[in-house]
Amino acid sequence: MYVSTLALLAFACGNVLATPTPDHAARSATLPLPARTIFQLDDTLPGSWFENIALRRNGDLLVTMLQPNASVYSIQRPLSGSPVASIISIDNANGLLGIAETSPDVFAVAAGIFSALATPVPGTMTVWEINLRGPEPTTRFITKMPEAVFLNGVASISNCSSPAVLVADNGLGRVWRVDLKTGEYETAAEVPEMQSVADAPLPIGVNGVKVRNGDLYFSNSNHASIYRLAIDKDGIAVKGAKAELVAKYDAGNIDDFVIDERGQFWAATNFNNTVAVAKPGSTGIVVVGESTQLTVAGDTALVLGGRTKSDKNIVYTVTSGAVAGPVNGTVTEPAKIVAIDRTGF
Ligand SMILES: *[C@@H]1O[C@H](CO)[C@@H](O)[C@H](O)[C@H]1NC(C)=O
Ligand SMILES: *[C@@H]1O[C@H](CO)[C@@H](O)[C@H](O)[C@H]1NC(C)=O
Ligand SMILES: *[C@@H]1O[C@H](CO)[C@@H](O)[C@H](O)[C@H]1NC(C)=O
Ligand SMILES: *[C@@H]1O[C@H](CO)[C@@H](O)[C@H](O)[C@H]1NC(C)=O
Repeated sequence: MYVSTLALLAFACGNVLATPTPDHAARSATLPLPARTIFQLDDTLPGSWFENIALRRNGDLLVTMLQPNASVYSIQRPLSGSPVASIISIDNANGLLGIAETSPDVFAVAAGIFSALATPVPGTMTVWEINLRGPEPTTRFITKMPEAVFLNGVASISNCSSPAVLVADNGLGRVWRVDLKTGEYETAAEVPEMQSVADAPLPIGVNGVKVRNGDLYFSNSNHASIYRLAIDKDGIAVKGAKAELVAKYDAGNIDDFVIDERGQFWAATNFNNTVAVAKPGSTGIVVVGESTQLTVAGDTALVLGGRTKSDKNIVYTVTSGAVAGPVNGTVTEPAKIVAIDRTGF
């Protein structure tokens, strides 16, 4: 009785899974790390842009599309050589942004209506939930956020009694907290380091958000930097807390990022067409891609594998096919998912 109650609770609360440990003891990797495309769209969807990615507990992937439409691509058996893709559509939106798991097989996603690339229609930002526990996926509208300008990364700040997410708003330079039960939202954090650079060609401030050891980590695209900010257990910035610079990249911008088990920051540099890794307090080094290559061209976000034996050394990245900054000035391609092998890195 006691055991079964505990097991149930653990399931409901989204406990941390025991995951395979990646093989990096040898540190023998040579750069660039091996990378292979495991899934790519075709030209029937012009200007396709994958924006973010989440890993399911069974090793499947969920990939959000920013354009041309509000689809979540569910990719089954991503490393099998013949992955199966199905689409979950989000209503009243034509673009999707960040995605995060809030309890086992339940994900929150940010959505909106865009009139052109990176041009949101004012007042159209929303948050949705996707539930994959049943035989068919279901979606649930959580809330409209009329004051939001341009939502971006999403991070879970859920606990057993209260599912919630932090959502970056790169237009306002703010992070919102959205309660997924009530749909209520409030400002969680707003510090100068979240602001875009006003005269940047594409002004984008706070972009990716991650919660780790009780701190909020966020990327600022225009600063090509990652910062840390102290938050409380609800995800609200500690009063008077200051953002601390933890990583900086030699890139015009960075997009979303992920933190590995050694505390290193893996960033998708998007316009630089690379994945770069920074140790805390350091400048990033390029581990995959090149500005003149399509390998990870226009990469937007990453997720670490680690649910299955086959993905324990994999980092997945998704791309926008360089549609906003063509390689060599002219070359673009459909959006894709790339598996990077970090064995020995
Ligand atoms: C988006 O495009 C795909 C591929 O054409 C299609 O299957 C899907 O239904 C579309 N989704 C929406 C929300 O229009
Ligand atoms: C869960 O989150 C809610 C809302 O942030 C908070 O009031 C509550 O104390 C939290 N519970 C635990 C067990 O941390
Ligand atoms: C990234 O792109 C910027 C221009 O946007 C360039 O100055 C910089 O050298 C590039 N960095 C690398 C590592 O290619
Ligand atoms: C870009 O140009 C360089 C130099 O000419 C070439 O090596 C590279 O293959 C080109 N990239 C693409 C994607 O065509």
